[in-house]
Amino acid sequence: MQRVVLSIGGSLINPGKPDVKFLKNIAALIVKLKAKFQLAILCGGGQPARDYASAVRGFGGNEFVADEAAILMTKANAFLMAAALGESAYPDIPYDFTRAAEAVTTTDKIVVMGGTIPGFTTDADAALLAEKIGAKKIINLSNIDGIYDRPPKRPGAKKFATMTHEQLIRLANEYDLRKAGTNFIFDNVACKIAARSKIEAHFINGRDLKQVEAAITGMKHKGTVVKG
Ligand code: UTP
Repeated sequence: MQRVVLSIGGSLINPGKPDVKFLKNIAALIVKLKAKFQLAILCGGGQPARDYASAVRGFGGNEFVADEAAILMTKANAFLMAAALGESAYPDIPYDFTRAAEAVTTTDKIVVMGGTIPGFTTDADAALLAEKIGAKKIINLSNIDGIYDRPPKRPGAKKFATMTHEQLIRLANEYDLRKAGTNFIFDNVACKIAARSKIEAHFINGRDLKQVEAAITGMKHKGTVVKG
């Protein structure tokens, strides 16, 4: 069965408080597709992760500790996602890739996890999980409906239908250098891991379930596909 990693942005799971409706809807879709695709899910942290990290920093905590607190919020989101999946979810949230891979290869349950180590992001975790379990496709779900040639809200911003891994890496680097306060949709480490293992990456607005389904099932969609 084709393995696919679904990376769900924390802003979808918890924009301030858990978005129960979103979780219910996405869980129903995932369960529907379970017979045909082996999905593994990586959950982002969203606002709570940022709030906790910033509160830790406020007490003089260092970046490592701020990240540790943020990671716990990504894991809390993973517990939420797993709860929404009910019986279809693997009954534990693996804290590292080895355990996640063990769960993926030994059960037909949907494995859900959060972040792993300080200094990383859940984008990089999703790419690493895909490498580890041999998934050739990552679907990145966020509030943004694809990859644009400049920050999406800027006038004249143009969405890519497809792009190469090399183009993606170049664009991520440009954002990094600019440091304009706008984060790129996929961080540099994640881009490089996807490139080195030729993992196809699809960028989709996670609230548009038709597009999410199309991306998982290999149909044409309105987001951006990175390959080649
Ligand atoms: P993300 O920033 O990856 O989640 O993790 P997100 O919510 O999907 O991303 P945005 O912000 O909506 O785009 C949240 C935070 O958790 C820590 C980092 O502090 C990160 O900013 N984290 C996450 C780690 O330190 N290591 C990880 O492996 C994952």
